[in-house]
Amino acid sequence: MDRHSHYLVIGSGIAGLSFALRAARKGSVTIITKRAASESSTNYAQGGIATVWSGEDSFESHIEDTHRAGAGLCHAEVVDMVVRDAPSKIRELIEWGVRFTRRDGGQEYDLGREGGHSKRRIFHAKDLTGREVERALLSRARADRRIRIYENHTAVNLITRRKLESFDRRKEDEAIGAYVLDTKTGAIHTFLADATILSTGGAGKVYLYTSNPDIATGDGIAIAYRAGATIANMEFVQFHPTCLYHPHAKSFLVSEAVRGEGAKLLNRAGKRFMKGVHPMTELAPRDIVARAIDAELKRTGEDCVYLDITHKGAAFLRKRFPNIYKTCLDFGIDMTKEPLPVVPAAHYQCGGIRTDGNGETDIRGLFAIGECASTGLHGANRLASNSLLEALVFSDRAVARAAHAYAGKPRLKIHVPGWDPGNAQDSDEAVVVSHNWDEIRRLMWNYVGIVRSNKRLERALDRIELLKKEISEYYWNFKVTGDLLELRNISTVAELIVRCAMQRKESRGLHSTIDYPYVDEEHGRRDTIIRRTWF
Ligand code: SIN
Repeated sequence: MDRHSHYLVIGSGIAGLSFALRAARKGSVTIITKRAASESSTNYAQGGIATVWSGEDSFESHIEDTHRAGAGLCHAEVVDMVVRDAPSKIRELIEWGVRFTRRDGGQEYDLGREGGHSKRRIFHAKDLTGREVERALLSRARADRRIRIYENHTAVNLITRRKLESFDRRKEDEAIGAYVLDTKTGAIHTFLADATILSTGGAGKVYLYTSNPDIATGDGIAIAYRAGATIANMEFVQFHPTCLYHPHAKSFLVSEAVRGEGAKLLNRAGKRFMKGVHPMTELAPRDIVARAIDAELKRTGEDCVYLDITHKGAAFLRKRFPNIYKTCLDFGIDMTKEPLPVVPAAHYQCGGIRTDGNGETDIRGLFAIGECASTGLHGANRLASNSLLEALVFSDRAVARAAHAYAGKPRLKIHVPGWDPGNAQDSDEAVVVSHNWDEIRRLMWNYVGIVRSNKRLERALDRIELLKKEISEYYWNFKVTGDLLELRNISTVAELIVRCAMQRKESRGLHSTIDYPYVDEEHGRRDTIIRRTWF
């Protein structure tokens, strides 16, 4: 049975939920989400949301910091729009019930600081900002009669006119919904919509070590690419400099806000190695700090470096970072008494599905918001705490565009066939999925990590092509499962990262290669664009 709504939202983090809450004022909204609705990358965001709020700050300063981090690739008009819109988006979140931390329990909001910011401007809810935002938005969405949430539902593929009709190439393609797997029953349903919104988050699971939750498998980017949307700047993968180094910690994030409050990075010998690397030392933009740690680890042969904030005192640390304090303590490390062992891990995908200023892709009626999108804000390196902000600004603009151009508008009649499982059997060897999953993540970590080379990228591509062939055979011969879909998606995203990295013949922002160790001002100041060529 087909399900139809005005807006189909895929993903339930801040981008999808804020879109849904606004869109529900104008029409019916369906949200599909792979696991429980709260299981999004947003839920794990510790730091916060950047905005100009204090009288000592200015839009110009936030704009300048964003451009400095973005290493010459941010789109000026997007940066300007997002930064200037930020205070109104924070007010909206407060109206929606988000409880940001106030200073000393008073009326003033406590503004944090993170790497690359020249002022204190981060709204936060202690060190659990994402969880607080997700809680507030999700409880409103659940209470809204016009929003229907399907948990344990994974998008398989987009449905576009091009796929259904003999298509006139001179026309733009148009999205009309998605085939969606109910992972509890194994059934694949057809969800149709006037506008389809990808808000599926990032792709950290492409790498062996990541701060991201298990759901971050780049689904939106992969399905948009398969449908023919333009993808941009995938080489810019942000590695967070400080994830807890512990065999059982699964790369638990130690927020940059800890450095914002004065933590120092030390090597095993107790030396502050960021001195002499950048004038902002530990608060330099993330690409610089992550690379400095990587270089320090390679130079010393050690497994980790150390983050020391013991000088701040136990009372302050327990109050400001309750989650980090408790989690580290659970692993036997008391941050009030000893430095934390830390390493970099994949954290944020700065590239993604290319959109215009309204979050619309080059497939009509298909929008991408949040981490899966490439709007032009982040350039070659995202400034800390600009991402939740980007999601809020673009979801607002996307609602306006989708409501105006698509929702409830008459459409050409088209027959959409149900999903055809063909002769697919139950899988006989699930080990293929787990083995390939592991191999991709390992090879991406080893060959396409913080510092790259032509040879490593070529090796990575050769292997990914073989793995993709095997995954594709498996996909066509066996019944679709959630694990298989995720594997197919991470293999596609891995290939996109490598192909974009191969196009960039310079080192800029998050893309660093020993073969071109310089910024190429003449040819490098452009986005890397990639599009499927099956037309
Ligand atoms: C952090 O708390 O360090 C993460 C914030 C971000 O990625 O913007």
